[in-house]
Amino acid sequence: MKNILEAPFVEEMKDITFNMYTQGWDERNGGNISYMLEEAEVAEYLDVNKVIRTIPTGFDASYLKGRYFIVTGTGKYFKNVTKDPETNLGIIRIAEDGTTAELLWGYADGGKFTSEFPAHMMSHIARLKQDPNHRVVMHCHPTNTLAMNFVHELDDAKFTHSLWQMCTECMVVFPDGIGVLPWMLCGNNEIGEATAKKMEEFRLVVWGLHGIYGTGKDIDEAFGLIETVEKAAQLYMLVASTGMPRLNTINNDQLRVIADAFKVKAREDFLI
Ligand code: 13P
Ligand code: ZN
Repeated sequence: MKNILEAPFVEEMKDITFNMYTQGWDERNGGNISYMLEEAEVAEYLDVNKVIRTIPTGFDASYLKGRYFIVTGTGKYFKNVTKDPETNLGIIRIAEDGTTAELLWGYADGGKFTSEFPAHMMSHIARLKQDPNHRVVMHCHPTNTLAMNFVHELDDAKFTHSLWQMCTECMVVFPDGIGVLPWMLCGNNEIGEATAKKMEEFRLVVWGLHGIYGTGKDIDEAFGLIETVEKAAQLYMLVASTGMPRLNTINNDQLRVIADAFKVKAREDFLI
């Protein structure tokens, strides 16, 4: 059996959590990541028949039964994952009943997965139905995206459109737009269900006055989506902070030109 601490998926989790921490998006225990793994890749490092303990999921995740995930722990700091992955991360499998997670590795201090597990798993279900290659759900608190929530309407079309206008690349990266939820209490099934509903349409979901979710087929894709939103939000806030009138913007005709040139399908109803 190979050393789990050298598994590429553990390395990826170490790299991305530290990267996100240094971006300032994951203060204290802020943020969480879940990354779906294949049984074959886990079995190279762990005896998949050896369950350390079981943890209730708190909802019906039977759509994901038999699926493996590496997930950040609740209350754990992204900045600490690199030095102690076995305490700050866990590898779980969703059991047959869908209401139990089987812990195969990690959470070494007796901990458990993120309090946002419902939002993560429900989002995985929603995204897998849209895209069988989907693998990653990532949540964090990016500073400028969050700042923008205080001065911009929390509306899918309006929020997306404002960001599309800030950088030419935005239309290329997220032509499908961003879903925006109002402020809601976090860490429960209700916000999980609301997030998953948005995930039927969007790979990106803003949690009003809280943070953002990005998804994708791998860590780079989920991170890249959030990074691009955050860059555009930074520009939005920089421009807004000057108090100067905007003399230029990328208009709807230009946004359509970008979408045509890069062969992406823009949400036409968001070209408001
Ligand atoms: P966890 O520590 O439970 O992952 O929560 C962090 C967070 O960002 C809550 O939304
Ligand atoms: Zn959060």
